[in-house]
Amino acid sequence: MAEHRHLTIAIDGPASAGKGTVARGVARRLGYQYVDTGAMYRSLAYIAREQGVSWASPQEVAQLAGTLDFAFVWDGELLRIEVDGRDYTRLIRSDSIGMGASQISAHPPVRTALLTLQRDLGARGGVVMDGRDIGTVVLPTADLKVYLDADLDIRAQRRHEELMRRGDVLSLSDVRKSLDARDRQDRERAIAPLRCAEDAIRMDTSNMTERQAVEAVLQRIPEARRQQAIDSGSSKQ
Ligand code: DC
Repeated sequence: MAEHRHLTIAIDGPASAGKGTVARGVARRLGYQYVDTGAMYRSLAYIAREQGVSWASPQEVAQLAGTLDFAFVWDGELLRIEVDGRDYTRLIRSDSIGMGASQISAHPPVRTALLTLQRDLGARGGVVMDGRDIGTVVLPTADLKVYLDADLDIRAQRRHEELMRRGDVLSLSDVRKSLDARDRQDRERAIAPLRCAEDAIRMDTSNMTERQAVEAVLQRIPEARRQQAIDSGSSKQ
């Protein structure tokens, strides 16, 4: 019988398409690790700003990335991101840090610095990783790839509610504009742009509850396992 290995699951899509909620829900149900790669770019943008490193300086930001130790730690329902032992989970969710993360993520040396770390986190399987380039660049041989999308107005509403809960005062139309600009920047950059991998399953979460979106991904697991068993059997021949 083919050897069983834990799956590697890649979830990509634009901002506020539901990636984090779905990835976290799927990871919890399967007992897998969840890796939020956006949180890595966000923490790096936050730390750069704190240390006076310009978001416009590719080499300096990349150099900073190389000195940092990123870790993901479960805290009940919440996945915390710690960098050099400090908790950044709540500090990095603002709209301006999102834009900073998008800006630094377009620099090739910055992506190279984080790519190795992200590949290491995905190497042993048993992981759900979300971001913009997971299925296309970080884990191109993932066992299951999902591309989540949703209508821009609905995504703006979701992000607006999230920001309001945090106490960020931004109008819905400003949130919509910012989200649209960030998506355009992420789609149009020269390196590892946001796009749907050819072998990814596309899902539109506009009219789905969080639970339905998690279930829709979980339904694909048996087929991904079957395919993995076939692939690992044929690679031994
Ligand atoms: O998922 P998020 O909104 O927290 O990500 C913030 C920014 O980080 C996003 O606008 C682009 C960048 N990012 C990226 O370039 N590649 C990833 N794999 C994840 C995030």
